Amino acid sequence: MKRLLVLIAIVSTSVAALTPEAEKGEQAIVACMSCHNPELTPALAPPFFGVQNRYIREYSDKAEFISAIVNWVKQPTMDKALMRRPVRELGLMPAMPLPDEMLVQIAAYLYEKEFEPPCTHWASDIAKGNKDNHTRMVEDNFNNLCKE
Ligand code: HEC
Repeated sequence: MKRLLVLIAIVSTSVAALTPEAEKGEQAIVACMSCHNPELTPALAPPFFGVQNRYIREYSDKAEFISAIVNWVKQPTMDKALMRRPVRELGLMPAMPLPDEMLVQIAAYLYEKEFEPPCTHWASDIAKGNKDNHTRMVEDNFNNLCKE
């Protein structure tokens, strides 16, 4: 019995649980993946790894993060966009008319999930050969997180 308890403790800490809300978001976010799939080349939207980074920098508080994402998805505008470069290169995202409850779940997932580094996306970005600050940042990320 004691061993079983230890095992349960190990499993529950190592699977770094999502909250039940974020788990529902993990199901619902398929609605976003036709564009935000990080394996798409050329990209149709920024991978959520980068979106999460940018939004957490702006809104470290979870409640603020969630309301910013919900607000964005319901009505994306140039003024609200934090990711200026994807807007410039890909155009503004269309509004996604999903129920609020589902958007909150998706946003909770975006806050909690530890996304895999989008190595394919970064490699194709680097291959474009621009040498601006963005490319240097992507190269650093790629070298640190993608090369073995
Ligand atoms: C039809 C394609 C498409 C779908 C579907 C889509 N997105 Fe996007 N998304 C984009 C594009 C293109 C951008 C980059 C341009 C921009 O920011 O508007 C983007 C950017 C974003 C951003 C960053 C906004 C910023 O501040 O610049 C967030 C957050 C986001 N999407 C969330 C979502 C969520 C959540 C869903 C699902 C409910 C979703 N997207 C579905 C195309 C899409």
